[in-house]
Amino acid sequence: MATRVLHVSDLHTGTREDPMVEGALAQLIERLRPELIVASGDLTHRGRREQHERAARFLRSFELPLHAIPGNHDIPYTFPARFTSTFAEFERLWGTTQPVYRSDRLFIVGLNSVRAWRHQSGGVRQSQLDWAAAELREAPGGAFRIVTLHHHLLGAPWRSAKKPVAKRNHVLASLVEAGAELVLAGHIHQAAISERREFELSTAGGERGVTVSIAPGLGQPRPNRRGEARGLHVYEVERDKVHIETYIWRDDGWALTAERRFPRGREPLSFEPESS
Ligand SMILES: [Fe+2]
Ligand SMILES: [Fe+2]
Repeated sequence: MATRVLHVSDLHTGTREDPMVEGALAQLIERLRPELIVASGDLTHRGRREQHERAARFLRSFELPLHAIPGNHDIPYTFPARFTSTFAEFERLWGTTQPVYRSDRLFIVGLNSVRAWRHQSGGVRQSQLDWAAAELREAPGGAFRIVTLHHHLLGAPWRSAKKPVAKRNHVLASLVEAGAELVLAGHIHQAAISERREFELSTAGGERGVTVSIAPGLGQPRPNRRGEARGLHVYEVERDKVHIETYIWRDDGWALTAERRFPRGREPLSFEPESS
């Protein structure tokens, strides 16, 4: 059976939950049978204890392994708690802000890009990048290597004023160098997916494919903001490619709105003409 990962982000629990969305998500998960669920931050809206507990209860209700990292909304909204117990509630429920998931087929390293003194923009320290690289070196040969962080590395600037993770080019280059094949994030509440050779000069037989995927928001903290879709991504990992599905919520159910394929390894996708 294909290895699948379901990626949700920006639940913003505590704003507007919709039992219909949640019920339909359970059905989708039942149908797709992912190996695990990645939740790339902003699980809560204000970082309150009851919001964290509700978000954890919801994510755990699917009875699958979970890989959850914090977003900028998962820390206390008020002072001084934001600085004195920044990740206390997150760690109480999830144990760590930088989890590592290991199986024969998947190896996933989580980076905490949240900075208490910069609520919107995030950053990753060199020591975190070094740690991620050291972890990724331990990945078993055939495992698909994923890195998750909350703050985005891609996104349309006319759609969001949010800046990407600090030192974005350095962060991405370090993760590529460390062997990441797929980099996941959220934060901007809109889907954006690109393979590095779409934006970096490529030479024949040279660079390994690395796909960067920003998930749409699953929650909808600002329902009046025009055009903010609710959605999620599903990654299906094959030997030589990764297949990405984007599901978007439409009034009464999940709709598959895009399917994209990206190469793994150094070979591009084949483009044999289809026989009609
Ligand atoms: Fe968010
Ligand atoms: Fe965020």
